[in-house]
Amino acid sequence: MTKSSRIIENGTEHFAQFSKHAPRVFFAPGRANLLGAHMDYNGGVVMPVALSKGTYVFAAIRKDNILRISSQQFGGEVVEMEISDLHPQRAKGWASYIEGALWATHQRWQCLSGLDVHVDSDLPIAKGLSSSASVISAVVKAVASLFDIDADCDEMIHLSHLAENRYVGVRCGVLDQTAIFLGQKNTILMFDCLELTRVHVPLDSHATQIAIIDSQISRELASSEFNLRVAECTSALSAMQKHVPGLTCLRELTANQFSEYKDKLSTIEQKRTRHVIDEVQRTRRGAKALRANNIAGFGACMTAAHYSLRDLLEVSINELDVIVKAATDVDGCYGARLTGAGFGGCVAALVHPQAKAEFEKHVCDAYKQQTNIQTSVQWFSPSGVVCEIKN
Ligand code: GLA
Repeated sequence: MTKSSRIIENGTEHFAQFSKHAPRVFFAPGRANLLGAHMDYNGGVVMPVALSKGTYVFAAIRKDNILRISSQQFGGEVVEMEISDLHPQRAKGWASYIEGALWATHQRWQCLSGLDVHVDSDLPIAKGLSSSASVISAVVKAVASLFDIDADCDEMIHLSHLAENRYVGVRCGVLDQTAIFLGQKNTILMFDCLELTRVHVPLDSHATQIAIIDSQISRELASSEFNLRVAECTSALSAMQKHVPGLTCLRELTANQFSEYKDKLSTIEQKRTRHVIDEVQRTRRGAKALRANNIAGFGACMTAAHYSLRDLLEVSINELDVIVKAATDVDGCYGARLTGAGFGGCVAALVHPQAKAEFEKHVCDAYKQQTNIQTSVQWFSPSGVVCEIKN
């Protein structure tokens, strides 16, 4: 039995004890962002893939206005409330992601009666693979389907983003939700967060596989540290707007404008802005390489992005740096970088299929030796899609 069919079987069994209604089952993938690090909230280009692992939601409509929520990952605790209790001020802990999705959909569609909702996931939580956006997106999809709402992907992206921003309180951009709803099999999504254009560029899984290596360090402080990076970029933008007319986001700032006005920024703001300017260049180079099927060229941009995240955005930690170094020492590894917000979590690397065994051994041995932490490598090709799972 595959892991996903086990989750579906367990979830359905659990639901029978938790609710007297029969559930429908929905799935939303996690994502790995390969290039365009911290670019979504700066208006840049991001290049993520949707993964085959993600969140499963078991949900059924109730006849009253009670919402009952449980999660396999959080010990089967049941959170119960009335629909009118949904409010960003009550957001706390694991349930806030599910509540946020119910709040955003209720605000928009005004259609909710009560619901029983149970979630399970095969994604590591708080490890940079977008477990938060995955659970929110899966619940948004479940609500749309259960209430027969004709919502397109853009609307669901918007509501999922709203839930995380306004209810949970993370000032994220739309990278995660866009990757989750628009990711396609064997492609990297190129999403321009300013122009809103989307292009799917093929990634040949015979030529390269995606390795995800978990540092085993959770990024507990992520939301506060992450929100701080957003605030630093926002204040750099405000300072630059005084000198560069018409500037709407840091991505639009040219290298020349930066050189001319950088002394108007604090040292921290200068570093953050430099990361954005360099990452704009890297995403251009990476996209060009990818289109020419030059995986090595794309991978080199990924690795350079990692070092910029370490030195300029300062969101890496020693453990992630050790993994990136070990990964890129292996012949057949095209490039590696931390994926997601940083401060812990996972590294994503592109590796030639023939180098997989050597890669696993070298990276795990080097990591154990240098940090005393045991890890493993999981292999993916871009694959997950948001869907209802029918028997
Ligand atoms: C987190 C956020 C995203 C994005 C990434 C960094 O995953 O949720 O919106 O900013 O960090 O690229």
